[in-house]
Parts: sequence; C-alpha cells; structure tokens
Amino acid sequence: MTMAIELKRMGVSNFTILEKAGEVGGTWRDNIYPGCASDVAIHFYCLSTDLRSDWTHSHAFQPAIQEYWLQVARKYDLYSHIIFNRKVVSAQWDIRTQKYDMVTEDLDGTLIPLAATIIVSATGLLEIPRFPDIPGISSFQGDSFHSARWNYDISLVGKRVAVIGSGASATQFVPIISEDPTVQVKQFCRSPSWILPPVRREYSPAQKWLFKYMPLYLRTYRNLVYLWNEMLYFAIFENQTLSPYVQKSVKGYMAKSTPAQYVDHLIPSDPNHKLGCKRLLYDTNYLTSLARPNLSLVYAPIESIGAEGILTKEGPQVADVIIYATGYITDDYPINIRGTEKTVSEYYRAHFGPTAYRGTCIPTFPNFFTLSGANTATGHTSVLFAEEVQVQYILQLIKPVLAGDILSMEVTAEAADTYNRDIQNRLSGCVWSNCVSWYKTGNTGKIHALFPGYMTLFWWWTRRPNWSHYKVVTVGRWEPRHPFRGAIGAALWGGAGMGLAGVAYLAWLGFI
Ligand SMILES: Cc1cc2nc3c(=O)[nH]c(=O)nc-3n(C[C@H](O)[C@H](O)[C@H](O)COP(=O)(O)OP(=O)(O)OC[C@H]3O[C@@H](n4cnc5c(N)ncnc54)[C@H](O)[C@@H]3O)c2cc1C
Ligand SMILES: NC(=O)c1ccc[n+]([C@@H]2O[C@H](COP(=O)([O-])OP(=O)(O)OC[C@H]3O[C@@H](n4cnc5c(N)ncnc54)[C@H](OP(=O)(O)O)[C@@H]3O)[C@@H](O)[C@H]2O)c1
Repeated sequence: MTMAIELKRMGVSNFTILEKAGEVGGTWRDNIYPGCASDVAIHFYCLSTDLRSDWTHSHAFQPAIQEYWLQVARKYDLYSHIIFNRKVVSAQWDIRTQKYDMVTEDLDGTLIPLAATIIVSATGLLEIPRFPDIPGISSFQGDSFHSARWNYDISLVGKRVAVIGSGASATQFVPIISEDPTVQVKQFCRSPSWILPPVRREYSPAQKWLFKYMPLYLRTYRNLVYLWNEMLYFAIFENQTLSPYVQKSVKGYMAKSTPAQYVDHLIPSDPNHKLGCKRLLYDTNYLTSLARPNLSLVYAPIESIGAEGILTKEGPQVADVIIYATGYITDDYPINIRGTEKTVSEYYRAHFGPTAYRGTCIPTFPNFFTLSGANTATGHTSVLFAEEVQVQYILQLIKPVLAGDILSMEVTAEAADTYNRDIQNRLSGCVWSNCVSWYKTGNTGKIHALFPGYMTLFWWWTRRPNWSHYKVVTVGRWEPRHPFRGAIGAALWGGAGMGLAGVAYLAWLGFI
C-alpha cells in the first residue's frame, strides 16, 4: 500500500496489487487474537504521510490498526488497483521481453497468467504461520488453531486449553483468555524471554486535543517517538556499558511481578541470553496473570502430541483445545520467482538464508524488489519506517524504467556480496548471535532478519542508489543522473549567468 501511494504521487497509475486474501491489512487483518496490539508506539507505527490524531492509546489494538489501513486504502483509492483473492504462485523473468511472466491463482484454483515489467514483493515477513515439528501433531482429536488464524467459532468456555509458545503473541492473549475462570489454561514454554514493563497508556483528553488541533505537536510527537526508539537501540543493543543496567532493571521488574514459583524459569539466567537477544516483549498484564489458579506454565519439554493432548517428559497433559502460538516461517521465500538463473529460494539457500542488497535487491533478479527483505527488520522500532525508506529507494531505481530510458536493472553479485559481508560482520558478536530465535535461519543459523544498527543508518544507506552497483539494460544511451547534477548545474549556470551580468553591468558603466 505504501508503494502504491507513492506511485500514485508520482503520477503512475499502471500498477496492480495482487492480494491472496479478501481485504487489505495484512498482519492486522489476519491477527485477530484477543489482545493483539502494536508494541511500537502507534504515532510512529503508521505512515509518515498519514498521521492520525485520534488514536486512543499509545500502542493501538488490532481493530484500530486494521481500521487505519482500511481508511488509507479508501483515501488513496487503492481498491481500484487491487485484485483480491488472487495469489501469486510463480514468476519467471523473460530476457527477450524484459518482463516477468507471472502465474496467479484465484480462489477456486484457476491459474491466470499475467505479465509485469517490475515486481515489488510485499508479502510480509511475519505472514506464514509456523506449526511446530512435534511428532503426532495431526493425531489430536480436539480443536486446534494457530494464534495468527484465531478461530472464534471454537469457544474456550469451560475447556482445557493448551497454549504452545511464549513469545509476543502468547503473552498478549494468555492474560485475556485466562480472565474467564472456567477456562483452564496450560501454557507450554520452551525458552524464556525478557519482559519489559508495560508501555501502553491511554491518551488524556488534553493530549488528544493537542494531536487534533496542533499538527505541529502531532508531527513533533511522532519524531520524538522515533528518537526515543533509536535511543532504545543505543541503550539495549549498542552501548555495552549501559545495557547491563537496563537488563538489571528489567530483571528487577520481572522478579517483582512474577509469582514466586515461576521466577527461576521465567527470568533468563543464561549469561548468553542477554536483553534483546530475542524479540523484546512488553508486559501486557501477563506476569501478574500467572498467579491465577486457572493458569499454569509447563516447562517440561514436549515429547509428542496424541489424540487426547500433549505428552511431556513429565507425563500426559489432557487438552480440549490446542492453540499454537509458535510464530512464523521467516527463513524462506514463499513464491516460486525465477530470475535469470535461479529462484529466490535457491539464492537464499546458496547464501545460507535470506540475503539481499540493502534488503531490497537480489542479484540475477532484474526489476525485482523485496519490501521487508533480508536484514531490514528491527527489534526496537517500526517496520513501516524501514518499508517507507525502501519504497523511496525503489522509486529512484524504477524511475528510468518507468520513463522508458532503461529496460531493467539488477544489482551485481559483487555489490550484494560486499554489502552482506559487512552486514554479517556487524552482526557477529552482537547480542542476537547467542540466542535461538526467528531472527536466524532455522532458528540457529545466520541472522537473516535484523538490520544491525540504528534505523537512521538504514535510511542513510538507502537514501539514493549507487548505480555503479547495478547492471542496466538500456534502450539507447543512458547515464544515471548524479544526485547533485541538478544542483551543480544550477550553481554553474547561475554563476556563469551572474558573471555575464556582472560583465555587462561593468560595460554599461563604461569600465570595459
Ligand atoms: C501480531 C503481530 C504484531 C506486530 N506488531 C508490530 C509492531 O508493533 N511494530 C512493528 O513494527 N511491526 C509489527 N509487526 C510486524 C508486521 O508484520 C509489520 O509491521 C507489517 O505488518 C508489515 O506489513 P507488510 O505489508 O510488509 O506485510 P503483511 O502485513 O504481512 O502483509 C503481506 C500481505 O501480502 C499478502 N501475500 C502474501 N503472499 C502472497 C502471495 N503469494 N500472493 C498474493 N498476496 C500475498 C498477504 O495476504 C498480506 O496481505 C507485527 C507482526 C505481528 C504478526
Ligand atoms: N506487537 C506485538 O506486540 C507483537 C505481537 C505478536 C507478534 N509480534 C511480532 O511477531 C513475532 C512473532 O511472535 P510470536 O509470538 O507469534 O512467535 P515467536 O516469537 O516466534 O514465538 C514462538 C514461540 O513458540 C515456541 N515454540 C516454537 N516451536 C516450539 C516447539 N516445537 N515446542 C515448544 N515451543 C515451541 C517458541 O519457543 P522458543 O522461544 O524456545 O523458540 C516461542 O516461545 C514477534 O517476535 C514480533 O516481531 C509482535
């Protein structure tokens, strides 16, 4: 949607959004579990072009965020560009036509071909639910679903509910489903996470008034959130002197809020498991809810799943419903897209996991771009910021294609390899390297998801393309426009003009 808005701003209307679901919203359309909310302050977790003044909470709940995206789609008339219920199945670059031949699929399985000069892949990073690889999982006779596809047709009232997982999703919905004392919740936890004090607060009427009537206040507030998040990066991920103090204070908070019987399990004790090494979680009343008699944590490792429930090392745990809060597949590419040599998945595998140049371009894939691509995510700030930065970068790259000056461009393998060596060097020895997490390929391999730095650095690196890193197929003669060329030209012509005017003035005065 961000890409579409910016294309429209450029006056480009010849584009189509292919969406496999029936509505816009992505993450916020699909994740309807109880308590689902943003953990980045909402005034920064929205588009820079579309601030909203009427957010009720500092961190918005899913219905409000989904409503935001519906409004944005309506405002920019994006619906007229979207084909819903149309999944992209594959695409193959045709060197002769300099286009991608795509295959798409509608709801009843009909395959529909399509051609595209440019593909922007905006399929999301946390999009495909991951079910755990537990023996016997399909033999369970009760009801089950993944947290990202919450099934409200299945009532939890009076049931024994097993929750597998203890990441951001589980810690948001467990305190809510366990509010009903008839729901017996057993949460199966594998490894601990750092849980920071709550951040969500309701805005006061005065603050809402300021947001509504003082646009400068609204914009300044957003910018301050951005700076605050970057400071968080400094305090937790960058500064080795400060981070132990922050970790100590988080530990203090957890120790104070967690029921005594869980303190040893819940607070990470492994010295390698430093604050921030897995996704930071913010307490959503989770820690105090653990004192409820109808909620208990199970740390015994899961051995298998059977017809009646979950078998752990300490014996069977009977369940009526199993909720898999086991995250997403983040280390593969879901569409069979083939460039001039191989598919995206093959390229990833050859590079030990998702790999891209500036998270956006992949060698041998002309005119193909990945939003939220490899090493663009962050553990401290808004994904949307990175995506907006990427969109501006892509627009500069595709401008000559849209203008008909060039047919295609692709990043060189040398540029991509150099970039990724630098990324992995920066990541080596950082706090993320010692943890098992979805940031890594296969949970333990290469860190493929995270950008190793401030988001300001990502913006700086991607603010304009270095055309010497690209192979270009031109129509005729084409030179990349130097970013300063306009300014230098204007200065030179201006200088020359002023010089001539000066000479003419002196001549008029009779000096020459
Ligand atoms: C529960 C949850 C909470 C989150 N909270 C935050 C937060 O607070 N802050 C933050 O910065 N980030 C958060 N994230 C990350 C979040 O995913 C991103 O911020 C954001 O939603 C990314 O938007 P996107 O459009 O790139 O991807 P998505 O929102 O994932 O959208 C991808 C779209 O592509 C479609 N699609 C996928 N494959 C195909 C295909 N083959 N053909 C056609 N269509 C396809 C999908 O249906 C979907 O609509 C959260 C993620 C989750 C799961
Ligand atoms: N805005 C928000 O607050 C919010 C909310 C939800 C999600 N998100 C985003 O989405 C990401 C994913 O969150 P998520 O909670 O859905 O997934 P997740 O962070 O990947 O957590 C998955 C959980 O399942 C456990 N698990 C996986 N396989 C298992 C197995 N075989 N046996 C036992 N346990 C198993 C994991 O344990 P291990 O830790 O031991 O692997 C982990 O606790 C977050 O990191 C965040 O970026 C954000």
